[in-house]
Amino acid sequence: MNSILITGGAGFIGSHVVRLFVEKYPHYHIFNLDSLTYAGNLENLKDIEGKPNYTFIKADIIDESTLNALFKTYRFESIIHLAAESHVDRSIEDPLLFVKTNIIGTINLLNAAKKNWKGNFINKLFYHVSTDEVYGTLGETGLFTETTAYNPNSPYSASKASSDHFVRAYGETYGLPYVITNCSNNYGQNQFPEKLIPLFINNIINNKELPVYGDGNYTRDWLYVKDHAIAIDLVFHKGKQGNTYNIGGLNEWKNIDLVQLLCQQMDVALGRKKGISEKLITFVKDRPGHDLRYAIDASKIKNELGWTPSVTFEEGLKETIYWYLNNQIWLNNVTSGAYQSYYKKQYCN
Ligand code: NAD
Ligand code: DAU
Repeated sequence: MNSILITGGAGFIGSHVVRLFVEKYPHYHIFNLDSLTYAGNLENLKDIEGKPNYTFIKADIIDESTLNALFKTYRFESIIHLAAESHVDRSIEDPLLFVKTNIIGTINLLNAAKKNWKGNFINKLFYHVSTDEVYGTLGETGLFTETTAYNPNSPYSASKASSDHFVRAYGETYGLPYVITNCSNNYGQNQFPEKLIPLFINNIINNKELPVYGDGNYTRDWLYVKDHAIAIDLVFHKGKQGNTYNIGGLNEWKNIDLVQLLCQQMDVALGRKKGISEKLITFVKDRPGHDLRYAIDASKIKNELGWTPSVTFEEGLKETIYWYLNNQIWLNNVTSGAYQSYYKKQYCN
């Protein structure tokens, strides 16, 4: 049985990847390693927790000796590494945490793989899940390709860029087999409501202001999370070792336009009068170092592996909205406690 370690599997994207692999590959054993930070939630995987090919391990990637012990016990053959601190605003508040988790945590995993695979790299793979933010910002035109120079602007993207470099360096220096994917903004079920779309859904439900940073003329390329999970499956099985693949939604939206669309869909979903939610839009102080625009050229993954997004933004957004409306217990659970003080610090100063 193929023993696969997925890190960060209790988080947003990780939980979709874990579910896909557990259900699609009953002959693989999926080990989900997660330290369960504020962003990790085992409720995300309730439906698969009893499956015979699934094991959850509560552990921290900063703890190298535990990683080594786990490698010895479970003999992981491949790693899909998603565990990270993932929110740009939090990285501005606490860069060092991002260095610890995203850089040192990744190096610990690389070391554990190198040490335990002992130079026998047949059927081994270190798959590093990364972000388009490593490329910095685009102007009004152009797209990020796999050869765009790294130019990160936030502590988060700097930490992810560094981790990408270490993965590549372990490939070059020690021959460790790896692939890296750099993906654009994901949205969908189970995303923690600190990121734009779920934050604003939650605020609309509760009639709270929608804090749009700056003038709202920032552009992101949005991808439905299940399409990202499908791309990861494809790259894991068919991607060329030592390669990077960009993954994107072919779906650029200015924040303000996206927020208006979201407000319209929320009015319909909540049975509110047209235009009610838009009244909540409030322009607030900009994010420091705010990248103007991200957009991905996904032609490499399309041409080599045949991947393109399968869900339109309108469909995906609607599914997402109804998921949050139908899962208000989940939403209430994750927004109680520490979330309240985060929210006050971030938005009420
Ligand atoms: P998330 O914040 O929802 O989840 C991160 C998970 O990692 C959580 O379950 C958390 O508990 C776990 N974790 C954090 N620190 C850990 C540690 N020290 N040890 C073990 N587990 C730890 O993040 P996400 O949005 O699902 O992103 C997952 C990955 O994908 C990240 O590497 C991120 O950089 C990358 N990515 C995210 C997006 C996006 O739009 N969300 C886009 C491209 C790439
Ligand atoms: O591009 C991929 C990246 O996308 C991932 O690597 C990150 O993990 C993920 O968090 C995301 O980063 P962004 O900073 O683009 O996502 P966020 O949802 O935080 O913000 C999206 C846009 O909305 C951005 O331009 C900032 C703006 N924004 C965000 C928040 C939280 C607001 O205007 N108001 C807000 O309150």
